[in-house]
Amino acid sequence: MSLTWSAKDHKNMSQPAAGTGQKRSRGDAGNKVTVVLGAQWGDEGKGKVVDLLATEADVVCRCQGGNNAGHTVVVDGKEYDFHLLPSGIINSKSTSLIGNGVVIHLPGLFEEGDKNEKKGLKGWEKRLIVSDRAHLVFDFHQVVDGLQETERQAQDGKNFGLCGSIGTTKKGIGPAYSSKASRTGLRVCDLLADFKDFSVRFKNLVRQHQAMYPALTVDVEDQLKKLKEYSERLRPMVRDGVYYMYEALHGSPKKILVEGANAALLDIDFGTYPFVTSSNCTVGGACTGLGIPPLNIGDVFGVSKAYTTRVGIGAFPTEQLNAVGELLQTRGHEVGVTTGRKRRCGWLDLVILRYAHMINGFTGIALTKLDILDVMDEIKVGVAYKVNGKRIPHFPANMDVLHKVEVEYETFPGWKTDTSAARKWNDLPAKAQNYIHFIENHIGVPIKWIGVGKSRECMIQMF
Ligand code: GDP
Ligand code: IMO
Ligand code: MG
Repeated sequence: MSLTWSAKDHKNMSQPAAGTGQKRSRGDAGNKVTVVLGAQWGDEGKGKVVDLLATEADVVCRCQGGNNAGHTVVVDGKEYDFHLLPSGIINSKSTSLIGNGVVIHLPGLFEEGDKNEKKGLKGWEKRLIVSDRAHLVFDFHQVVDGLQETERQAQDGKNFGLCGSIGTTKKGIGPAYSSKASRTGLRVCDLLADFKDFSVRFKNLVRQHQAMYPALTVDVEDQLKKLKEYSERLRPMVRDGVYYMYEALHGSPKKILVEGANAALLDIDFGTYPFVTSSNCTVGGACTGLGIPPLNIGDVFGVSKAYTTRVGIGAFPTEQLNAVGELLQTRGHEVGVTTGRKRRCGWLDLVILRYAHMINGFTGIALTKLDILDVMDEIKVGVAYKVNGKRIPHFPANMDVLHKVEVEYETFPGWKTDTSAARKWNDLPAKAQNYIHFIENHIGVPIKWIGVGKSRECMIQMF
C-alpha cells in the first residue's frame, strides 16, 4: 500500500472480514491505547509527560483541538514548542498521527514543523500522517475568531454577563469547529480531491462568513493559490486515518499514545462553558477524534500541576489575586506558549480534579511543577465548594454559581527545601510526601509521576 493518499488505496487496506462470518469478540479488542489528558485548564505539562512515554511509543496521535495548544518539551537542554504536531514526534522512531478530530491550519502546521526542524527535529514530514477526515482551519477563520472576540469585548461591562469575551487564542478554533458542525466545513480529503470543486466550496464558505462579518476581507484567489501549494506538500502525509488506526490496533503489537490538547475544564461539554474551547478534550475525544473503539482505551493519565493556572477569561475559584498568585506566576514562568499571555495562578483545586476523574476515569496522575512550591511557607488546597455557607456536592454547570462559590481549603506547612534534584520518592521531604499523599487520597487515583523540573529527567516515577 502506498503512503500517498489516493481513493484507490482504500480497498487494499485491512478491515474486518466482510461476509465471512469472522467475528471479533469484545475480549479480543486488539492493542490498548494510552491516553494523556489535561485535568485542569490546560498547560499542566502534557507535552513533558507525552515526551516521556513517547520514547517507547510506535504511534503518537493528536485527536482534537488545533494549534491553540502549546506543549513544551525540553530535551538535552533544548526547548521545543508544539502546537499542532504531536509532541511525541520528537521520538525519531515513532510515527505521528493527526486524527480526524483535529482542525488543521496548514500554514501553521508547516511553519511549526520547519521551526522545530531548525532546532534539531529530524525527518518530521516523513513521520507524520494526517487523517483525510480532518477539517481545515483557514486564515479567514482566524480573522473571524478575532472579530468575534472584539464583538464580545464590546459586550464586556454592559451587563451581558456570559456574552463577554472568552480570551481565545485567535487561532480560528471556534469558527473552524463551527463550520464543521454546520456541515459547510472543508476537509483534507476535499483539498486533495478535485481542486475545482474545493475552490467553489471555499468561495461559498468565505461568502457565508462575509455575510455574517461584513468587515471580513479575503483575497480568495491568493488564498486558493496558497492552499494549492500547501496541498502538494501535504499529499504524501495523508491517509485514511480510520484504516490506519485499525491496522495499528489489530496488526502486530504496537504502543499507541494519544496526546490530549487543552484540558477537561476547557472541554466543550464538560468545561466551564462558554469559557471553553470548541472540542472534547476529555477521553471521549480520543475515541471520536481517531476512530478508536472504547474497548481499546487502556491507561488514561491525567496531568495536573501541583497548583492551578488558567489562561483567558472565566471563573477560577482558587485563583490568588495576591502575592501568592504572583509568586506562582513568576517562579512557575507561567506564560502561555501559544499567546505569550500571563497565566492566572491559584491553589490546587481538588473539586476540579475529582470532577475531571469522574469524566475521564484516570488510571494515574502526573503531578507536575511540585518544585515551584518549594519556597512556600504554607500551601493550601481547595477541597470543597460552598454556596451560601453550605457545601455543594458537585462541580456546578452554571458559571454564575461557579463565580460565587466559596472555597474550603486544607492548609499544609511548606517544606522549604529545593526538590529539583529529587529523582525518587525518598528524596522528597516528608512534608512534600504528605502533600502528595493527601492529593492522591482525595482524588482516589494513584499519582504515577511527580514533576520537579522542566526536563525529562526531572520526573519521579512511582510505579
Ligand atoms: P502543556 O500544554 O500541558 O503541554 O503544558 P505547557 O508546555 O503549556 O506548560 C507547562 C510548562 O511547565 C512548560 O514550560 C514545561 O516545560 C514546564 N514544566 C512541566 N513540568 C514541569 C515541572 O515538573 N517543573 C517545572 N519547573 N516546570 C515544568
Ligand atoms: P494546551 O494544550 C491553556 C483556552 C484559551 C481560551 C479558551 C478558548 O497548551 O494545554 P480557543 O482558542 O481554544 O478557542 O480558546 O481556551 N485554551 C487554552 N488554555 N492551554 C491550552 O492548550 C488551551 N487551549 C485553549 O486561552 O481561554
Ligand atoms: Mg500549553
